[in-house]
Parts: sequence; structure tokens; C-alpha cells
Amino acid sequence: MSDTYLELVNGGLPATVAKKLGLPRPARLRRTDASSVDRPLTPGPVLVLSDTHAAAEADTVAQDLLAWDLDVRRAPRLSDHERWGAVVLVLTGVTHPTDLSAPALELASVLRGLAPGGRVVTLSRAAPAAVATPVAVADEMPPALAAARLGVDGFLRSVAKELRAGATANGLVLADGVGVGAPSVRGGLRFLLSARSAFVDGQLLQVGTDGGSEPADWARPLDGAVAVVTGAARGIGAAVARVLARDGAHVVGVDVPAAGDALSAVMNEVAGVALQLDITADDAAERILAVARTRYGHLDVVVHNAGILRDKLLVNMTADRFDDLLAVNIAAPLRMNETFAEPGVLGGAGTAPRIVSLASAPALAGNRGQTNYAAAKAGIVGMTRALAGPVGRVGGTVNAVAPGFIETDMTATIPPVTRQIARWGSSLQQGGKPVDVAEAIAFLASPQAGGINGQTLRVCGQMLVGQ
Ligand code: NAI
Repeated sequence: MSDTYLELVNGGLPATVAKKLGLPRPARLRRTDASSVDRPLTPGPVLVLSDTHAAAEADTVAQDLLAWDLDVRRAPRLSDHERWGAVVLVLTGVTHPTDLSAPALELASVLRGLAPGGRVVTLSRAAPAAVATPVAVADEMPPALAAARLGVDGFLRSVAKELRAGATANGLVLADGVGVGAPSVRGGLRFLLSARSAFVDGQLLQVGTDGGSEPADWARPLDGAVAVVTGAARGIGAAVARVLARDGAHVVGVDVPAAGDALSAVMNEVAGVALQLDITADDAAERILAVARTRYGHLDVVVHNAGILRDKLLVNMTADRFDDLLAVNIAAPLRMNETFAEPGVLGGAGTAPRIVSLASAPALAGNRGQTNYAAAKAGIVGMTRALAGPVGRVGGTVNAVAPGFIETDMTATIPPVTRQIARWGSSLQQGGKPVDVAEAIAFLASPQAGGINGQTLRVCGQMLVGQ
């Protein structure tokens, strides 16, 4: 499942020809290396800029970055051989859209010096939600302030579309009252700066509370946690199992009996436990809990990854294709969560409950031939939002990840030309790898993401379709 075009245009004559013809030239992304996770965190010095009212918050951010042994600078000066590894824009003080002008132009003056695989990350504050709850929040916010805050979102997404050479731009949007030094702001910033977020581009992640805590060891944030991953025999699920195990978790992998051999191979690799189980079984959650508790004493993290495709135009759709898909992709996670979301079921040994489910970026945008799949995946987003409150009240989080085009067995069945168009339809001009989705899931499962709840994070290279 490799992208031959990407390999070709990264050197020699094909690279020159592609440049002359104006063809896409996707870059090799800066990804995590199992032997040296997060070292170095960025490919060069980090510049911290701010709007005029956020200088003190920018100082706090700069101090925090220094604690990670980064070369942090407050002035846009580089020596000849240097390139910026990242630019962090602290825009928490904007009160009018015109406040964006100075930091935007300062960013403009340094962008040519951004290293391949570099990062632009904004920190800003939340504007009123589309449907204001409570209404009072929207009422109290001056329109110019709301315009400035939402202006950051539009600015950031456009910067992401202009970057090249595998560089990305993403933002953290802080609720009022959440400090820039809050654990989830620091955790989110570290994730977005690092190679772990290689295929996350043009996204704004909301930090709603001061919750969460820093791991004792950033290289093993899930040390001692116990996680179940459904559909772990191959593709994204197998990658999730590997990354969670690398981050210190014990993993229970679930898949259908027909995938038993492949599941055993993955679980042997990560020293985990294989459970052959169809997740549509009525007692699936109880069986998973029983295995996790017998083996490890508790279960902390649930990753609802198993999924199927039953594509057909709606005019040709049959009841079994629609119903089979709903049964696996949404009814099973809903039923299992009736057990997992009960207070006291997940969590133990100091680890807070975490539920992360797989949505789909193209499905959320609406996809021809995928009415059933899109209904199920949009359902995942609704389920995630609804469970965020109750699970949040017991200190846990429920989030979703929406992958774009990812190179797996599932997408290998797509005809070659359609596949190539899908790859080019994102700002990074390529498909993602299962590990990219796995890294985002591992971050949302980690203690440092405790203030991020009810969100759907797209891992799509800023796919040009959808929200
Ligand atoms: P895949 O088809 O390679 O793997 C899915 C796994 O789930 C298989 O091992 C399969 O045996 C298992 N599974 C299916 N039904 C099951 C059941 N009833 N009980 C237990 N296990 C079951 O799929 P891939 O590409 O790794 O996708 C994983 C998830 O990510 C799915 O939810 C998919 O919808 C989602 N996704 C994938 C994208 C992609 O581009 N590959 C894009 C967007 C979302």
C-alpha cells in the first residue's frame, strides 16, 4: 500500500519533470520513529509570536517549551544555516479582527525559513458555538471579539493550505478560563509540534477544561494503562495496538474469528491479548471487560475501530447492506458504551476513562455510494458528543478521530485513478498511513488530553472536502 508516485517525485528526473509540468509534489512526511519517539521534537528552533495583548501568555508558552529542551526564540532572527522548526502564534488576546494583522505579517516574514516538516501552531480562544449553549455566552460576547476569535480559525486553515514540504498548521482553541499552561494545552501543543501529528493539518482542537495531567514520562504516557482495540487484526486497528503498546499500554485486541491468525500475530508482536469476538454480539462489552480484568485487573481505554464498508448507490441499496453496516459501525459501539460509559467501569490504577471512536472525514462530508457508512460515521460524532458530558463528570473523556484517505487494505480496493485523485485531494497531496491515525488516537487516550472532550479530530492531511 505504498504511494509509488510520491516515491518517484522525491528525487531525480521525475522530480524535475513534475515541477516543470506543475504536477503535485507531495513530500515525505516527518513521522515518528519507533526507536526515537519525539527526538528531536521539532526540526529546528521554535519561534513564539503573539498579538499585542498576549505577550505575557506568550512568555508562559515560551517558558514551557524551554522545559522540553527546545531552542526557543522570541525574535525572528536565524543564522544562515538554520530553518525554523516551528512557529507558535499566541493569539489569545485578540479583541478585533484588525488585531490579527501584525502577528499575521510577522508570520509571513518568517514562513520562507520554515523547515521541511515544520509546524505552525496557533493558540486562541473560543468564539460562540454555532448553536449557543448556554445562550448567555453568545449574548455576552461582543461581535468584534467573536469575529476576531473565529477569524483565527479561517486564517489558520488558509495558512495550512499554503504550506509546502510536509509542513502543517493547526491550532488549539482554549475555552475562556483555560490557561495557556493547562496540561491539555501543553499536551496538545506538544502533539501538534511533534512528528506524531504528521497527517493532522488545518485542524483546530478545542480545549474545554483545565483537566488532564502530565505524564511522568512523555515517551510512555500510557504506562500501566489497559486498552482494548476492536478490529485490531490489520490496518488502522493493528497500528493503534502497536502505538498504544509503544506508549506503555497493555493491549487487548479484538477481531472476528476469521481474522484470528492475523490478530494473534499482531498481539504477539505487542505482547497483548487476542480476543476473537464479533463486536455485534450482545455481550461483547462484558466479554471484553472480563478478559481485561482477569488479565490486568482493570480496563481504561476503549478504541472503537472495527468497521466495514457496504458501498452502493442508494437506488441500489439492499436492506442487508444497510443494516449489516449499521450493526457493526454504530449499533455495536453504542451498545458496548452502555456498559463502558457507566461510572466505575473504566479506569483504575490512576488512569482516567478514555473512549476514542473512528469516524471518517469523507463520510462526514457526504460521499456518493456511502449513505449507510456516512449515517453510521456521523452517528459516531453524535454519540461522542452525547457521552462527553456523563463520562466527563467522572473525569474521563470521549472523543472521535476522522481519518481522511488512509493507505490500508480497505482503500487498496479503490480503482487506481480514483485512489490517486483521493491522495491529491488534500493539502499534503498524499494518503495518510495507519500510524498517523494511531498517533492521534494515542494522544486522545493519554493523560495529557484530559481537557479535550467530545471532539472529532480529523487526521486527513487537510482533505479538501468537508468541514
Ligand atoms: P480494515 O478493513 O483494514 O480493518 C477493519 C478490521 O475490523 C478488520 O480486521 C475486520 O476483521 C474488523 N472487523 C470488521 N467487522 C468486525 C466485527 N463485527 N467484529 C470485530 N471486528 C470486526 O479497515 P481500516 O481501513 O483499518 O479501517 C479501520 C476503521 O477506520 C474503520 O472504522 C473505518 O471505517 C475507519 N476509516 C478508515 C479510513 C481509511 O481510509 N482506511 C478512512 C476513514 C475511516
